[in-house]
Amino acid sequence: MKVLIVGGGGREHALVWKISMSKGISEIFCAPGNGGISDLATCIPINPEDIEGLVEFSKKEGIDLVIVGPESPLALGIVDKFSQIDIPVFGPKKDAALIETSKIYAKEIMKKYNVPTANYASFSNHHEASLYVDEKDLPFVIKADGLCGGKGAYIIRDRENAHSVLEDLFIKKIHGSAGERIVIEDFLVGEEVSYLVFSDGKEILPLVPSQDHKRLLDNDEGPNTGGMGAYTPVPFVDSEMENTIKNKIMTRMIEGLREEGIEYKGILYGGLIVVSNSPYVLEFNARFGDPETQAILFKMESDLLPIIISCINGTLGEIKEIKWKKGYTVCVVIASRGYPEKPEKDKIINGLESLKNLSDVMVFHAGSKKINGKYYTSGGRVLNIVARGDNLKEAIRKAYEAVSMIHFEGMHYRKDIGQKAFKYLN
Ligand code: GLY
Repeated sequence: MKVLIVGGGGREHALVWKISMSKGISEIFCAPGNGGISDLATCIPINPEDIEGLVEFSKKEGIDLVIVGPESPLALGIVDKFSQIDIPVFGPKKDAALIETSKIYAKEIMKKYNVPTANYASFSNHHEASLYVDEKDLPFVIKADGLCGGKGAYIIRDRENAHSVLEDLFIKKIHGSAGERIVIEDFLVGEEVSYLVFSDGKEILPLVPSQDHKRLLDNDEGPNTGGMGAYTPVPFVDSEMENTIKNKIMTRMIEGLREEGIEYKGILYGGLIVVSNSPYVLEFNARFGDPETQAILFKMESDLLPIIISCINGTLGEIKEIKWKKGYTVCVVIASRGYPEKPEKDKIINGLESLKNLSDVMVFHAGSKKINGKYYTSGGRVLNIVARGDNLKEAIRKAYEAVSMIHFEGMHYRKDIGQKAFKYLN
């Protein structure tokens, strides 16, 4: 079987690595891939948003399966396009991906099908939104409706800031058409958890709960990023809470979408917050999380390929469970100086060779490139160091031991990945 994986980040490196261990794989291609992926797959210089280019390549190469990593090709209808030409493709179609690409749509579905989420109002008119923020109790959240690369949510603590955000969105149009409509919702305080499930449109199959670290600096300070690290499992998600999440959030959402005539196939990613022991949805994503996937797949014992194929074929119910390696996995992201605003590039990465001798440690590359056998930085998040341990402490120790062997000029990483979990462990 020839597989094409679309994307070029740490998530896609983890997907390539996991799929490379599946039975029956003859060749893996990745578009565009990165320096680390090029050691396992043939990287092809096609942009994930160039759907026609990907289709043409797949027909020529005789691709048997396409797995889509990022959200932007989903929003452009990559799954619809490959389905039309009968090439099996993993991910939701454009109408289903709306749960990520339109915050207002996701909120409307949640409200209609009684999926717990913060109270909200939506606006497409600057004046009406201004009147609303003058009256609304602080703090609250303003979210752009469309895709903003993780930069479209604003926590508002004073009214002056609210008006300046509205001006940015409606007048300066800093997010273009993605900010033409907005959601204003209550600010929820609690512990966040990423809960991902496979779906074939009828059944769900959950992955282990994980927790992302979105801020750039330790103690959740500094600007938001794509994610500076993750760990799994999450000790405050016990089996009772997990049942609540499965039944009252994930299944309700899949069934609600079915009622709307939408068959949701692929990964449904619930970005949740637990408030007083009750989970609420902050957002849904229509894809694997990054960096959560790097930690999750390193813990996964089961073969990924049959699960992906059964999601596409509508036979997920035949897979009873996913087997997991014991213990915890921790993923530490190493980023370039200047990330997320203006990351430096083209720095040589040293130390990767020495990590090959470590057990239970893996490096998934993100913004890296390989030239003449040497690896260089090429973007904001550069490497994901993933480690597994029998307990959280051991996983963290192994991950940071590996991080200490890596060096490139200006490298930055958080020193507290996973620490938050200790308060829930005895
Ligand atoms: N880790 C956040 C995301 O994938 O959107």
